[in-house]
Amino acid sequence: MSSSPGCALVTGGAGGIGREVVRRLAERGLRVIVADIDAGAARRTADEAGASAVAFDVGDPDAWAEADRAVAATGLPLVALVLNAGVALGEAEVLDVDPAAYRRAWSVNVDGVVHGLRALVPRLAEAGGHAVVTASLAGLTAVPFDPVYAMTKHAVVGLVRSYAPALAARGVGLHAVCPGLVDTAMLGAARPELDRLGFPLVAASDVARALVACAVGDDPHEVVVVQPGRDPLPYRFAGVPGGRTGTPMPALPSRLPIGTRRSRQNPVPREEP
Ligand SMILES: NC(=O)c1ccc[n+]([C@@H]2O[C@H](COP(=O)([O-])OP(=O)(O)OC[C@H]3O[C@@H](n4cnc5c(N)ncnc54)[C@H](O)[C@@H]3O)[C@@H](O)[C@H]2O)c1
Repeated sequence: MSSSPGCALVTGGAGGIGREVVRRLAERGLRVIVADIDAGAARRTADEAGASAVAFDVGDPDAWAEADRAVAATGLPLVALVLNAGVALGEAEVLDVDPAAYRRAWSVNVDGVVHGLRALVPRLAEAGGHAVVTASLAGLTAVPFDPVYAMTKHAVVGLVRSYAPALAARGVGLHAVCPGLVDTAMLGAARPELDRLGFPLVAASDVARALVACAVGDDPHEVVVVQPGRDPLPYRFAGVPGGRTGTPMPALPSRLPIGTRRSRQNPVPREEP
């Protein structure tokens, strides 16, 4: 029998922050699966860390079956899922955003998180594991130089806040880690300007430390901010004004069938040919 405490899957694990997460999880004795669209880089990172690699596009819902097979092949419980793959657009003018780039950003940053949870939460529930999303300060603040990126990161922060209580009831932790600008390839052509400004960047290893703390259950907070030069800290949201109706507003139940409720059990009907 293996003495490993379990396995972990890291999307966008081939480079940048993800690679640091892979290294740290492997050092803790976890069997790590590097999941990335870049097959060659995923293989290299996996070899470095004694991990395995699986190449697929996180935005493709069907491709997640591949990840599930890779987890099953380890024969170990899935204790950590790090949903880290992401892309920026770098376009300040929404009117100029290329529709394909828009779809791509939504697909990787949002679909990749939702499909990852849909595919692997059942396994995390078996192990009492944790899912962690690499969100961003762009999910908590305005980002005039990339409004669409900010929209996608706000979307995943909203998902984590809204869904974490339901997952907690099933024994699964759900967290979002929100770093400021991080020293990785994602900064691309903006790097020289940031250097000129002397803008302090977060080290990828510091973001990885925060992600791993959530992934292994050492940090219980739902939303964690990582800024340069300070320890990771939980983010506290401001409340919103309540209504003034003369009577106290009742708490809403955790299940309420708003909209046209469709699910795996109740799918969207197929069009007749
Ligand atoms: N770098 C920053 O300033 C910064 C700041 C805050 C948050 N983040 C977030 O951190 C995460 C990691 O970014 P990074 O800085 O390490 O960038 P990076 O570009 O170095 O790494 C991103 C990784 O994701 C992979 N990837 C891209 N599209 C994919 C897809 N469709 N399917 C699977 N893998 C895919 C890439 O191949 C790459 O290995 C992202 O979610 C990003 O939004 C980055």
